[in-house]
Amino acid sequence: MITTNINKAAKALQNDDIIAIPTETVYGLAGNAYSENALKKIFAIKKRPYYNPLIVHIKSVSSLSTIASDVPTMALKLAEEFWPGPLTLVLKKQPHISDLITAGKETVAVRVPNHPIALAVLEKLDFPLAAPSANPFGSISPTTAGHVFDYFEEELEVILDGGSCERGVESTIIGFEGNQPVLYRYGSISVEEIERVVGPLLFTVNNDNTPNSPGMLSRHYAPITDTYLTNHVADLVHSFQGKKIGLLLYKNEIPNQEDAIQEVLSENGHLHEAATKLYAALHRLDKSNLDVIIAEKFPDDGLGKTLNDRLQRAIKK
Ligand code: TXA
Ligand code: MG
Repeated sequence: MITTNINKAAKALQNDDIIAIPTETVYGLAGNAYSENALKKIFAIKKRPYYNPLIVHIKSVSSLSTIASDVPTMALKLAEEFWPGPLTLVLKKQPHISDLITAGKETVAVRVPNHPIALAVLEKLDFPLAAPSANPFGSISPTTAGHVFDYFEEELEVILDGGSCERGVESTIIGFEGNQPVLYRYGSISVEEIERVVGPLLFTVNNDNTPNSPGMLSRHYAPITDTYLTNHVADLVHSFQGKKIGLLLYKNEIPNQEDAIQEVLSENGHLHEAATKLYAALHRLDKSNLDVIIAEKFPDDGLGKTLNDRLQRAIKK
């Protein structure tokens, strides 16, 4: 059930239960990162394949050395700049970190979430939290407690309500090849913001056979309704005449489309606002019994790159 009781949430976690917690990006499906039992439950509830590793959530930079070793100077610089916040670092793991978390890799993904409730829960625990996004594998990430409830009413006894997620898209994931920082997943912090701190990033190739970061799988974050992504929404609307259409738009409604449901993400054209609202709008459209969702491409820089990346993975191939 949905609750705001932090003590109840901490107790459940100490009992090896899996609960939903709010973070500034999206809601997470959290369990004790040091309990094999809890980790297995996360995979079972999410129906997530074991080859897809989890992010470990810690309460502060000072806990990092309990999770990772040989942390590059650049990683520390990024942590100092962006934690608590929507940056996940992929680092060499400490030997005790479970293979369930890392999918058998030698690296572990870790971040400090920037949400008062997530931090308050972590403060009550003597273990870190493993937490993937709180959606079934492959579907749209949740940005409200209600979204989580719709997915996991049956499976979760505790859904900790922290309101709507302030960022609305997942963390940016950065790894290292030697001392070279590498982008594994576009996210809430733009490439430009990261590069301002550590210089040019390498970009991993998006390859379904050997995904470096399965958030990079080509179909992910997907609604059930057929979804298209275009620069020319009006033209595409025209070609779906007679269908029930939902429009996901950046700044402006499409005129003379009384029958279409239109979701405008940011009338003033703020990418941050659009990011915050994106998944909630997709959830609403996906529940509106439509034949098709047509999404408008965002300007392709800054946070726009992240939003285009997510929409690209939501479309039918
Ligand atoms: O914003 C977020 O990151 C949210 C909130 C809940 O913190 N979490 C999230 O988790 O998006 P999830 O499980 O949906 O995505 C985690 C991503 C996956 O794409 C996974 O492959 C990648 O992190 N990942 C985890 N460990 C990794 C590793 N060792 N190397 C490369 N990628 C890794
Ligand atoms: Mg996810």
